[in-house]
Amino acid sequence: MPVTAKLMPIIKMPDPILRRTAMPVSEITDGTRQLLDDMTATMYDAPGIGLAAPQVNISQRIIVMDCGKDDDSKLIKMVNPEIIDVSEAHTLLEEGCLSIPDQTADVERPAEVKVQYLDENGVSQSIVANDLLAACVQHEIDHLNGVLFIDHISRLKRDMILRRIMKETRQSTLKN
Ligand code: NI
Repeated sequence: MPVTAKLMPIIKMPDPILRRTAMPVSEITDGTRQLLDDMTATMYDAPGIGLAAPQVNISQRIIVMDCGKDDDSKLIKMVNPEIIDVSEAHTLLEEGCLSIPDQTADVERPAEVKVQYLDENGVSQSIVANDLLAACVQHEIDHLNGVLFIDHISRLKRDMILRRIMKETRQSTLKN
């Protein structure tokens, strides 16, 4: 982690940038690499296992993830990621989101996905993700399309979460 990486404020629901489709990155520059480092530092600080650029107010197709265990870091930085294959088998995993604090829900997704992306040097890469990483990469790519994990759950559960968010937003507005 470069010493120059800085923490960025994390955007929370209901900020409209979280619902926007992010733009592809046309050229990977030092600025892109700096953003990847800043997002990585912000993700670890939160702490979280994934972060997408719209969550730090930047509407570009960039994500970072680390689904490794504490002492076994597995940092992955992706630019313009695309899911190119999904398994027929699905799994149910509990998800949360740094932009929807304190709320979790079980989300059903394909158990395995193949993802193609550019690394921080602009080289095309692909990975096959399983288990937690599969859920994580699908969750983060969703962010680039303005989709949140609450869009994948029942209306009843979603309305419950939305009511709690509205209540918290009202209370913090009153405090300010
Ligand atoms: Ni999220």
